[in-house]
Amino acid sequence: MKKIDDARIDYGKFVLDDYRDDSIVTDRHIAEIYGIRGKNVFYLPRGEQAKTFACAQRLCKWFLRRRLGAGNRVVAVGGGSIGDVTGFACGIYKRGALRLLHVPTTVVAMVDSAIGGKTALDVDGVKNAVGNYFFADVLTDFSFLATLGDDQLLSGKGEILKYFMLCGDPDLVKRPLNEQIAFCADYKREVCLRDPYCEGERNKLNFGHTVAHAMELALGLPHGVAVANGIFYETSLAFRLGLCDANYAEHWRNLAKSLFDVYPFTEEMAESLLQDKKNVNGQIGFVLPAEFKPVLLDISRVKALLLQ
Ligand SMILES: NC(=O)c1ccc[n+]([C@@H]2O[C@H](COP(=O)([O-])OP(=O)(O)OC[C@H]3O[C@@H](n4cnc5c(N)ncnc54)[C@H](O)[C@@H]3O)[C@@H](O)[C@H]2O)c1
Ligand SMILES: [Zn+2]
Repeated sequence: MKKIDDARIDYGKFVLDDYRDDSIVTDRHIAEIYGIRGKNVFYLPRGEQAKTFACAQRLCKWFLRRRLGAGNRVVAVGGGSIGDVTGFACGIYKRGALRLLHVPTTVVAMVDSAIGGKTALDVDGVKNAVGNYFFADVLTDFSFLATLGDDQLLSGKGEILKYFMLCGDPDLVKRPLNEQIAFCADYKREVCLRDPYCEGERNKLNFGHTVAHAMELALGLPHGVAVANGIFYETSLAFRLGLCDANYAEHWRNLAKSLFDVYPFTEEMAESLLQDKKNVNGQIGFVLPAEFKPVLLDISRVKALLLQ
């Protein structure tokens, strides 16, 4: 199995012919737009629907029918959903004997899901309930961005804002989108190299996500819009806890507000924080600026600070 140190990110053109000897996994929508067809192509359902045990099993059976083993390469062409289920299947098939190349086709996949080896399936309606680590190479081809919808672009931009705040440089937002994406992808790779299994520093990538998950659930917002809201509210929380100063908090809150719609944070959303994966002994887990270290707070304290 590949180690994270050997997992590369390359930037270039995805040319189907170069992958004739590999096994390609995608969905029909992407396949139709980009003419991805052939005996070596497997189609998964679109989006989140692909992240099931049933799909992972179908994929493993297809690998078996193709007699794949050590030395063979799988190429996942798609967004985070295709990448998550293909990575999961590669992790369990012949105990990780295959090699995997991610070809991310969404901003989210380019800056986030294709990097760092985390995979996931949803079980009984619980998102990302099971998963493993399977480190893979990445080929990022920016021309896939041309066919993304507005929601998908916004989702990516919310994650990008998170990276800009983590590295403390608001001016990155002025650079062309391709450069922003490459910056974020390389930043995530560096963090994952230092902490591949999320035992310390890698947790800071969860900044904004405690509030984001609650707002995503309550309002059905695109993930990145929810992350931008999470950035807004968690920065307020950090300021009220004395973890960052007023100028810092104002600056980033204003930037989030100028780029995204900010929605009210409600009692119902606060209650749903009790389900968050980062919680410990019933306390709500956050990763807060300016240090981006984990913080645990009682629900009553969170309500007092956020429902003002
Ligand atoms: N493993 C990780 O570290 C990690 C990190 C972040 C997100 N994720 C997961 O990623 C998933 C979300 O991924 P996503 O936002 O990339 O969306 P997605 O993979 O769910 O894809 C959404 C839709 O976009 C379409 N699509 C993909 N690329 C396209 C393109 N270039 N042009 C037109 N349509 C295109 C697909 O056909 C699909 O219908 C979630 O399940 C999330 O949990 C995983
Ligand atoms: Zn996210």
